[in-house]
This record gives sequence, C-alpha cells and structure tokens, in this order.
Amino acid sequence: MALGRVWTASSPFRANYFILRKCSSTASDNVKKGTVFGVYTGEKDEDVILTSAAKQFDNTTQGSFMKHLHLAGPGLKKGTARIFYNLSPAHEIVAAVGLGKHSLGFNEQEEIEEGKEAVRSAAAVGCRALHEIGVTDISVENLGDAEAAAEGTTLGVWCFQDFKEQKKRKKCPRCRPLEGYSEGWTNGTIVANAQNLARKLSDTPSNFMTPTIFADKAESMLNSHGVKVNTYDKKWIEEQNMGAFLSVAKGSMEKPVFLEMIYSRGRMDQQPLVLIGKGITFDSGGISLKPSNNMDEMRADMGGAACVVATMYAVSQLKLPVNLVGLCPLCENMPSGLAVKPGDIVKARNGKTIQVANTDAEGRLILADALCYANTFNPKFTLDIATLTGAMRIALGGTATGVFTNSSVLWQRIHRAGALTGDRVWRFPLWEAYSKRVTDFPAVDVNNVGKGKGGGACTAAAFLKEFAPKGDWIHLDIAGVMGPLEGPYLQKGMTGRPTRTLVQLVSQFGNE
Ligand code: BES
Ligand code: MG
Ligand code: ZN
Repeated sequence: MALGRVWTASSPFRANYFILRKCSSTASDNVKKGTVFGVYTGEKDEDVILTSAAKQFDNTTQGSFMKHLHLAGPGLKKGTARIFYNLSPAHEIVAAVGLGKHSLGFNEQEEIEEGKEAVRSAAAVGCRALHEIGVTDISVENLGDAEAAAEGTTLGVWCFQDFKEQKKRKKCPRCRPLEGYSEGWTNGTIVANAQNLARKLSDTPSNFMTPTIFADKAESMLNSHGVKVNTYDKKWIEEQNMGAFLSVAKGSMEKPVFLEMIYSRGRMDQQPLVLIGKGITFDSGGISLKPSNNMDEMRADMGGAACVVATMYAVSQLKLPVNLVGLCPLCENMPSGLAVKPGDIVKARNGKTIQVANTDAEGRLILADALCYANTFNPKFTLDIATLTGAMRIALGGTATGVFTNSSVLWQRIHRAGALTGDRVWRFPLWEAYSKRVTDFPAVDVNNVGKGKGGGACTAAAFLKEFAPKGDWIHLDIAGVMGPLEGPYLQKGMTGRPTRTLVQLVSQFGNE
C-alpha cells in the first residue's frame, strides 16, 4: 500500500507535510501494548456475554476477566470502554468494549445494519481509550466482523493535525488485528484509509489545497495504483466550451483545473460508471460574498471531489472489476475585478444559457459543464457529489446525505449501500415543479437560483438535471455531512463522508 508514502507535490510549507500517516512506532519508542476485546449484553442489560476471542482470553485468566467485568458494574453499555490492567502477562492492558445485544442485524426503522455499526463504534472507542492512557501498540479482536472492526479502528484513531508542531501531535498508535490479517480486515482498512484521505484533503486549508495542489495530490496517490490521471488546464477548458465552469474560476488568481481519473478493470465492453465531484477549493461566495462567520468551513467545498478521489483510491486498491471514471472541476470562487457578476449570462458546454443570479450558487455551474462532459463516456450511470446547498444542511443536518435520482434502481442500490456502511442516504424529489422554478425565465434557458421560497436543495438538483447526461443519474448533496462534525467513530473535523458508501455502491456493479 502507498500509505506512509510522501506525496511528491511540493508544498510551500514543508516538502513532506502531506503524508497520509500510517500508524507506526519505532523500536526506540517506549512501546506500551494493549488489546481490545468485545462484550455483548444479554437479554437483560446487566448480562455480560463474551465474544469468542474474549472468551479465549478469559480462559487464560482463569475467569478473572469475567469476574472483573462483573465487579466493575452491571453490564457494559454499547459504545463504551473499560480498561483492565494485569489480567494476564500476554495482555497487560485490556480495553473491554460494549457491542450491545448479540446478533444485531438490520434495523428497519433506523435503516442501518446495527451490528456492523456497533462493531465500528466499539473498535474506535476501545482504541481511543487505550491511546489516551499512552498505549501505542494496539491489537483489536475482530469483534465478529473484521471489516467493520478495521474501519472503526482506522477511522477512530485518525485526526487532522498536519499543521501542529511535530512534538505536540498526538502520536498515532499502531493498530493490528489480534487474529492476524484477513480479507475483511484488509478491505476495511483500505476503505477507512480512503475516507481518511478525503478527510485530510477536505480539512487542509485553501492556501495549501489549491486546484493545482489538489490535482497533484490526486495524481500522486492514484498513478501508482493503475489509475490514469489527466489534468486539463484553462486552455482545454476553453476548448471544451465549459463557459459555466470558467465563469466561476475567473474571479481568482488560482488557475482552474479539470481533473480526469480513469480506472479500467471491467470487461472491455462494460460501460463505465462516472463519478463527478464538486471541487471548489474555497467558496467565498464571489461578488455575492458570504458572511465572514464560519467562512473558513468553505475550505472543504471540494468535499465532493475529495470523496471521488478517495473512492478511486479505494476501488483501485480493492481491484474491483469495474470501469470507473472520476471527473473533478477544480477552482476557487472569489470576488475580484475579474469576477463574474450577478446578472451575467454564461453558456454551458451543451449550449444552454445560464443567468448567474447569485455568484454563490457556483457549485451547480461547475457541475453543469462536468455533467455535459460525462456524456462523452456513454456511462452506465453518472453520479455527482457536492457540498451544494446550505438548505440540505438544514434539512438533514449531519446524519445523512441527500439523494436525488431519476432511477429507483440506483436509489435502492445506494440506500442499501448506506445501510451497510452506516453512512446513510435519504431520497428527495426531482419533480417538474422544481425544474420550472429554474427554467421559467424569459431571457435565458436556466437561472442559477430557483424562484419562489424554500426547497433550495431541490431547485439546485433541478438545475443540475438540465445538464445531466442521458440515462441513469444520481446527485448527492453532502453539505450536511461534510463537517466539521464529530461522529460515532470520527473525531471532530471534516468527515470524508460518504466515501465508504460510494465504494460500496461501486462494488455492487462489479462485472455488470
Ligand atoms: N458551498 C455552498 C453550500 C454550503 C453551505 C455547503 C454550507 C456547506 C455548508 C454553496 O456554494 C452555496 O453557497 N450555496 C448557496 C446557494 C444559494 C445562493 C442559492 C446556499 O446554499 O446558500
Ligand atoms: Mg457558494
Ligand atoms: Zn460552494
């Protein structure tokens, strides 16, 4: 794996600051070892049932582990950890973690695979509890689901701290599977590392994550995994007649980039899946300037592009048998003497004219041209993902991604994917009434803001529909889930969500 590799692109700050740090400790460290064991509750919450690995461990302690669990209190609540010392010479420090009831499955009301989610949370909580008391070498038992355990572990111990003085950084613990490496553990680590990559790309501030730096990072992360990466410059974008994309980019000193990533491990005749990610490396709002409060969050307005790069990163390491194309229009949205002005009319790649009523509705402009371009791949389906509207944040908060699609089959697939990964999705309408609100204008084909009140996420989706390629199309609005958020297994920061749901969706199309 390429983790731990220094990204080659030069940084104005420090040549090697962009390392996707692989948790490791050196021989000279004072290594403190710890182990995570799982505990279920029984019929009654105070009942304690051990996982098979925990049972084996209990045997080596002549029942002392179980005795201490009972002494520590009635039962062990789901998602909590308790530390025990010196129960056995082989495992001097142990974190017991609560998994909830045994055999938790699909919860219909919550639309989630509860057992998997409990394992992720337990692994994360256990590793963090050990890390907090100075443990740097952690073994995690598979908790009944090695893949979910690896995900919780890898996501749970990671946090964004690249710009902190080296000495003051929390040292990342080394985590490994107690039972040895399995396919489940390896796959779980791959997808969680991919999400951590998206977290890192998103949280990095805009002066260290310009369109050019983003494209360089993507290239250096993906090239070595057999993904062909093309970075197109302004001249190419002009030749493509991407007038909507260019109108957003022109207010900034930073050059726009159109990033294209091609992964082919499917059959020759297999239509590609096309993923498009919004790549605004900073959204000031442009001339329709945003209020300064929390404007720094707009460094993560390339969260969609980050998820697409991360998905390509995971899919290429998993070697999934699909043909996959990633497209990211990348630029800054800035106010300046050159910037697009409210009322300006621009032309998209498909020839449709757009009135830019509000320069802060820029995501849909850059996506419009990318959607037109996607058509050239004759895609099996096209998916776009974007931190598109504040309205979506208000509608769903940080709990789920909003989905708009013209295909109920795609909806069912992504709905299932979200239940499996725990990074859930919720469907919204793509009705004609919303389309009218962006197209019913006398002077132009489309307006970049919908008339009338409310439903901002729906009119944004209706705008994109005007540019969507032929066939199945699905739009994800991730403004709510992008962060900065704390999650059951994520520490506060940009979340990299829903990378794992995208990988899961793509994996369902293997050999189709
Ligand atoms: N990037 C923002 C949306 C956003 C807001 C994402 C908050 C994450 C958190 C987008 O470009 C935007 O500014 N949208 C406007 C659209 C409006 C002007 C029609 C919005 O939602 O306010
Ligand atoms: Mg905006
Ligand atoms: Zn934006």
